[in-house]
Amino acid sequence: MGLSLGPNRDRVLDHAAHIVSRTWAEFDVARDTQPETSKELALLLTEGLPQDPSDPIAALDIAAEALDSSLTQARPRYLAYIGSSGLEIGALGDLLAHSHDPNLALDAGSASDIERQTISWLGEFLGYHGARGFFTSGGTVSNLTALAAAREKALPRSRSSGLGSHTLALYCSAEAHYSVTRAAEILGIGGNNVRSIDIDSQRRLKPDALARAIETDRAAGIIPMAVVATAGTTLTGAVDPISEIADICGDIWLHVDGAYGLPAAATHSAGSLFVGLDRADSMSIDAHKWLFVPKACSALLVKKPELLARAFSHNEAYIPHEHGDTNAVDVTLEYSRPLRALKLWLAFKVHGAQGMRDAVEDNLAHAQLLYTLAHAAPDFGVLESIPQLSTVPLRHVPQNISTADNSRINAHNAALQLALVADGRIYISPAQIDGNTWLRPCFTNFRTTNADVQVAFDVIREVSNALASA
Ligand SMILES: Cc1ncc(COP(=O)(O)O)c(C=O)c1O
Repeated sequence: MGLSLGPNRDRVLDHAAHIVSRTWAEFDVARDTQPETSKELALLLTEGLPQDPSDPIAALDIAAEALDSSLTQARPRYLAYIGSSGLEIGALGDLLAHSHDPNLALDAGSASDIERQTISWLGEFLGYHGARGFFTSGGTVSNLTALAAAREKALPRSRSSGLGSHTLALYCSAEAHYSVTRAAEILGIGGNNVRSIDIDSQRRLKPDALARAIETDRAAGIIPMAVVATAGTTLTGAVDPISEIADICGDIWLHVDGAYGLPAAATHSAGSLFVGLDRADSMSIDAHKWLFVPKACSALLVKKPELLARAFSHNEAYIPHEHGDTNAVDVTLEYSRPLRALKLWLAFKVHGAQGMRDAVEDNLAHAQLLYTLAHAAPDFGVLESIPQLSTVPLRHVPQNISTADNSRINAHNAALQLALVADGRIYISPAQIDGNTWLRPCFTNFRTTNADVQVAFDVIREVSNALASA
């Protein structure tokens, strides 16, 4: 049977199912420590290439043990960065998709229909009507793909001729994700031609500053290529004013980077922040962030896929175009394309749009709860504006540190973040905001509960006070 699992197949599958079921049960409730890798496992993980076969069940057990002692975003008190949470039905979707392993570079029959349908559902969920688009490996690639199309629209044939004597500029908030600058670098626009636009007191791009920057560039003969509105900044979850930005754009390409925050557009409590979304030329959304499915599952939504084709299509001899077909490979960056859509398709099918919306609402409520607790506590510092989405930067100031001693507060919170990670009850990341060090909890996990939020708040205070008095 060569590489097939042969007669062992059902036994191995049952064992894998058992491991997964045990893992999910363990994820239901947060654990109080992050276990260390055992000596035996550490040794095993330095062994050289195995030449001979071994028992698949034993191999799966080693993998399960290694994963159990890994840092996993799926745990309910993993509050660092912007996590994905390994939605159960999504994980099964991946298993199914990877078992069949279609290549969505070209039309793969029903698998391609699933991708199309999921994009359309996503558009409906977000209020982006008539959405077309594709799944990609992440927000970085979705942003790059959109901006490649924007470059070709701003300067036709630049994909083949280069920019020549032209200078193109890109506009985004000072707190846009660095993938925007990376896209400018890769596309030959130049990182220096990314205009970092001032933000307001709620950390949202200032439309009047944007208008001035565009005007100044035009007067200097520079071509405005695209504006990127961030719908949920990585640092604080600020949502740029999309409608006002769209008013300024006119025919300049408007891309919305909603890799993190866009799912909140579907909610009752935060939906109004996203007014104007429907006017965007393109948008990125990472379902592997706040739609809970496993990595990697980003989508690029557009209204006019032909603009992607202008930037990406190639006429290779081995790619069929007989019926004027536009293959995914003609409109995206990748050739080998796994069926990333299935996990999100299953998530919508099994939980319904309402179930997904409710889970995002829960995370929004977690953020409000933590902000309320910290705001009311004299020993915590929070940002002046309440969280727009699910990120809640905060600092703890123990009694023996003066509130006027900013550099000590910064040093203490940097040490506190490390102490919290060592403690293991919660996992939290640091962030620099306006030159100060903050803790930056972010809620994007369907397993997190209000009780976890309270634990996080109490643990931060407890570990901080212990650190200060040590
Ligand atoms: C606003 C924003 N855009 C883009 C990205 C990049 O996404 P990915 O890590 O999927 O490439 C992130 C990641 O956190 C993000 O927060």
